[in-house]
Amino acid sequence: MFMKKHRGNRSAARGWAGSLPSILEIESSTRCNIHPPCVMCYPRIFDKRHISYDISDSAFERLVPFLRGFKTISLHGVGEPLLGGKLMALLDNIDREKTWVQFNSNGLLLTEEMSRAFISKKLSMIDFSLDAATRETYRKIRRSNFDLVVGNIKRLTRIKQELEVDRPVIKVNMTLMKENESETGAFVDLARELGAGIIHLGLLNPTENYEVRNGEFVFNYHDQMVDVKLPGFRAAVNEARAKAQSYGIELVTEFSGYYT
Ligand SMILES: C[S@@+](CC[C@H](N)C(=O)[O-])C[C@H]1O[C@@H](n2cnc3c(N)ncnc32)[C@H](O)[C@@H]1O
Ligand code: SF4
Repeated sequence: MFMKKHRGNRSAARGWAGSLPSILEIESSTRCNIHPPCVMCYPRIFDKRHISYDISDSAFERLVPFLRGFKTISLHGVGEPLLGGKLMALLDNIDREKTWVQFNSNGLLLTEEMSRAFISKKLSMIDFSLDAATRETYRKIRRSNFDLVVGNIKRLTRIKQELEVDRPVIKVNMTLMKENESETGAFVDLARELGAGIIHLGLLNPTENYEVRNGEFVFNYHDQMVDVKLPGFRAAVNEARAKAQSYGIELVTEFSGYYT
């Protein structure tokens, strides 16, 4: 997402400094490498405008002066940041001593070269969206190669260990739905295997209902939404939380307020 109002030069940016919010979100790419989209990714399923917009050279030039002064900069929107030609250039223009920089990614395109570049550019965190602890469930939801993304994340962890660095922090997330809610415990084991420091469990955003087919699997959005008040769901999350704690992994949820 772009900041909409700016005059596009450094003095304009300085003038704004006092009123800058603490978080800046930039959609570094609106393209995605998963076709058709993940079954729950309704913005990509319904909004074709998201298919081909990227940061142009001129937009990038105008954006650079505004990259300073934020506590956090997030570099994803409704696309895959690893496809964005400007991702590395954005990192080069952010003050890495003062600003926490992160993005969500499907991780499928993460090469060794990129992993090394993110380490040397001091990227703070990558939040890998996996939604599954097994290749079958991953294939149903994300339509992609589970082993490929698992291998890519493990390689990043291996390089971090070799170089003895703790950044980028590896976070892994699940958007919980009926199809994957039984895998939260196994997901914590997977997170440990991947070297993750944080696990995020989220929920499907409320939206209008639709149905998509992925082979034999029929995904009905409203039928897939979980009821966080059900004791079974609560017990599974609490069990996952306890396991994560025993592994020294932080587990964060979007929904603890619903039942605590
Ligand atoms: C749209 S993706 C863009 C970044 C990247 N392509 C990825 O998959 O992480 C951003 C986040 O939204 C999540 N997401 C996708 N569809 C969602 C939905 N219907 N409700 C809640 N989160 C969703 C994804 O799992 C991901 O963590
Ligand atoms: S990888 Fe991310 S942007 Fe692409 S379809 Fe899946 S959730 Fe949406």
